[in-house]
Amino acid sequence: MNEILQICEFPEVTQTRLEENFICHKYWLADNKAEFLASHKAVKGLATSGFDGADAKLLAALPALDIVSCFGVGVDAVDLDYAKTNGIKVTNTPDVLTDCVADLALALMLAAARKVVETDRYVRAGNWKGEIYPLGTSLYGKTLGVIGFGRIGQAVAARARAFGLKIAYQGPNRKPNFDDPYFEDAADLADISDFLVVCCPGGPATLNLVNASVLEALGSRGYLINVARGSVVDEAALIDALEQNQIAGAALDVFAEEPKIPDTLRQMDNVILQPHHGSGTLETRKAMGDLMIDNLIAYFHGHDLLTRVV
Ligand code: 8YV
Repeated sequence: MNEILQICEFPEVTQTRLEENFICHKYWLADNKAEFLASHKAVKGLATSGFDGADAKLLAALPALDIVSCFGVGVDAVDLDYAKTNGIKVTNTPDVLTDCVADLALALMLAAARKVVETDRYVRAGNWKGEIYPLGTSLYGKTLGVIGFGRIGQAVAARARAFGLKIAYQGPNRKPNFDDPYFEDAADLADISDFLVVCCPGGPATLNLVNASVLEALGSRGYLINVARGSVVDEAALIDALEQNQIAGAALDVFAEEPKIPDTLRQMDNVILQPHHGSGTLETRKAMGDLMIDNLIAYFHGHDLLTRVV
């Protein structure tokens, strides 16, 4: 059996299949990481998650490494420049998680607009005495601005259209197959949006793309939903905007320094917090695991990789 280095734990179904196909050297269990890497220098394949990735230091410690197979579509935690320069192939798990992540974006948008989470807390605490709770916001007829109109952004848009929302989007390029208004600038998109949903990849190109000016443009009735990466939103600016009621609320699946979440965010009633689980269903995680493993199998059998990033 071929040997791989496994950076983190995977769901049981994935772990079982991984171990049916490979001898897995479990990095996360090692007490002395440097020693562990030094004793596995000959390893050619590495399995990691979008969260754990593989930085340049780790990649440099594995001179024979030829493939990094990532459990996740976002590969911003893998040092792609190092991988490219050193001829290391990187694969990810696109498509199989698109619907699931888009579902969560819609769930968060609905929950924020209709105050589902805060009213649940209110009723559960026994505070409801029959009075009318402060009213929520309708979705129908409103505008959803989508930052990053790729696979996930488009899947969010398709769902939102069914709720009667108008769509506009921002990204590096206009999408010729869509007639929806396109904005090159995120603040211009935010300006016409009632809901702004972040779906773009993380990494240097989108770092703090949603900054103070974008939040100001979103305005006091606008909601921010982030299912992409914490790095895309300037978290300090978001906290300021929320504290000053510059925006109506936020629903966040991702954060700047996961799993650390600023106390201020945790204390705000108009903020919904999730533990980075956009793709977190049994079905989707299994499909992601299968694709991660299929890429490794393809590599070790000398076949074309299924979903290569670099
Ligand atoms: C996963 C993700 O939660 O696909 C991605 O980019 O962020 C998520 O699907 C993550 O990869 C697991 O660590």
